[in-house]
Amino acid sequence: MAKKSKIVVLTGAGISAESGIKTFRDSGGLWEGYEVTEVASPEGWARNRELVLEFYNMRRKNVLEAKPNAAHLALPKLEKKYDVTVITQNIDNLHERAGLTNVIHLHGEIFKSQSTADPALIYECKEDIKPGDKCEKGSQLRPFIVWFGEAVPMMEKAVQETLTADILIVVGTSLVVYPAAGLIDYVSNEVPKYVVDPNMPAVIPRPNLHLIEKKGSVGVPELVNELLAHGST
Ligand code: APR
Repeated sequence: MAKKSKIVVLTGAGISAESGIKTFRDSGGLWEGYEVTEVASPEGWARNRELVLEFYNMRRKNVLEAKPNAAHLALPKLEKKYDVTVITQNIDNLHERAGLTNVIHLHGEIFKSQSTADPALIYECKEDIKPGDKCEKGSQLRPFIVWFGEAVPMMEKAVQETLTADILIVVGTSLVVYPAAGLIDYVSNEVPKYVVDPNMPAVIPRPNLHLIEKKGSVGVPELVNELLAHGST
């Protein structure tokens, strides 16, 4: 059997917007009313861990109530014909709940907690994390989230996947947060690149770039149907 072509999909907050999870940069510098620097940085954690825990506890409840939308649900259909890897900047699990098998979370996962003493100690976490909740080594648990200023351990794997893509799809990201935003530069000129966003981010013009100025729930199912019926253009 011929080897399947490989599709890499890079997603950001916009793909989950229609599931009721707010994007970051559409909300005027505040994230659900919080200063991003206070809740998503090691400095914020050092200053006020109660606030940080409370913030992510709310995010976790928010994701529990959310459901995958038409954009999430369309992507697994590609697996019939393609080898699909999703690289997401999102901490929600809506891609997995839509049925995708191969998802790389660049910025962590809301349903996991992590030891503050040993980053290798990661736990499943469906409930609130409270001050005093400890890992097996006795240190406070934190959300398993990559904060601003922290290393992005999954980046190397994401780069390796992107380097082998035959088709790249980008959905719902403002492409301003690095290193994630740089992934689009790892595919060659020959690779078709589709960007789906109702408010198109600034993408440097390059060969084989297709800008689809639509909401994810509309643009992604249309693109998936096109790729299943005819392949890339
Ligand atoms: N469908 C598709 N895209 C949408 C939709 C929608 N319905 N609604 C909004 N968007 C687009 C916006 O136009 C914007 O380009 O989604 C993008 C969201 O951009 P950001 O809020 O900047 O989200 P993202 O790019 O994922 O942010 C990257 O920044 O705060 C950090 O770690 C956080 O992972 C996050 C990272």
